[in-house]
Amino acid sequence: MFGEKVAVRDLTLSVRRGEIFGFLGPNGAGKSTSIKMLLGLATPSGGEAWVLGAPAGNVEIRRKIGFLPENFRFYEWLTPAELLHLHGRLCGVPSSKLEERVPALIDLVGLTPHINKRLQNFSKGMLQRAGLAQALVHEPELIFLDEPTSGLDPLGRRMVRDIIRAQRDRGATVFLNSHILSEIEITCDQVVFIREGEVVTSRDLHAQQEEAVRVDVRAKKLSPECIEGLARWCDSAHADEERLTLTTSSRGRLPDILRYLVGSGAEVYQFTPQRMTLEELFISVMGEDRGF
Ligand SMILES: Nc1ncnc2c1ncn2[C@@H]1O[C@H](COP(=O)(O)OP(=O)(O)OP(=O)(O)O)[C@@H](O)[C@H]1O
Ligand SMILES: [Mg+2]
Repeated sequence: MFGEKVAVRDLTLSVRRGEIFGFLGPNGAGKSTSIKMLLGLATPSGGEAWVLGAPAGNVEIRRKIGFLPENFRFYEWLTPAELLHLHGRLCGVPSSKLEERVPALIDLVGLTPHINKRLQNFSKGMLQRAGLAQALVHEPELIFLDEPTSGLDPLGRRMVRDIIRAQRDRGATVFLNSHILSEIEITCDQVVFIREGEVVTSRDLHAQQEEAVRVDVRAKKLSPECIEGLARWCDSAHADEERLTLTTSSRGRLPDILRYLVGSGAEVYQFTPQRMTLEELFISVMGEDRGF
């Protein structure tokens, strides 16, 4: 809570080790606050959280965590190499390791041409790249990235995607906040949607049965009661004479929906499911107008 404002409530999450976890929700949903609580940077008024087997905020565990904050300010008189050395030393990385790791990381994020420039002269995207390298310098087991592609050009965004995947391949767990759903869709293993501090739904992006679908139906004798009854399986249902468009968050419900339509007297001529993009799913689960 911030004064009277409840930023996060009843939030229950579990992130598997080694996965890329997408944490999604509209502006002000409580994503950054949740990350800060998991890091011990904000104190929750209730509840508990375990991070890498220890209570959230444990200082020893913090050394195993990388963090790219949403709005960060680094010491701007440092060069990127100095910033990385500083963060590396704070996390207990030996100097000999840093000597080889820092230039390699600076190269990875495309900052080699600016290696001797001070951060105060960096553009937004250049700073973002330095921030990302800072989050990785101690080869953390768990990495929180709060909107890592913010301010990045298309090549930079692709670079972030490749870096996230490489981190997972190294065995790290990545906890990602982003509004760029097309990127989340191709990077993440699991996503959770939150709104006003509460989980709305979650998705395993590899599970076919869980795939969200939009179904275009053409049918005669669709009664208003029948359409209303679809609320049991569907997030939305819009009928326009013989055309019915419905969305459901799980492909596994399709047989039940079709059986229900036929059972309630509709004459179904067409029933075409189409995979929904994560963006469509976001709008369907976050939209106030559920169509019922
Ligand atoms: N330091 C603070 N003091 C008071 N209220 C705060 C503070 N930080 C966040 N909040 C409030 O808590 C709620 C959640 O904010 P948070 O920054 O966690 O959202 P978010 O999901 O990260 O949003 P965005 O997508 O815009 O980054 C908002 O209503 C915000 O106004
Ligand atoms: Mg945020």
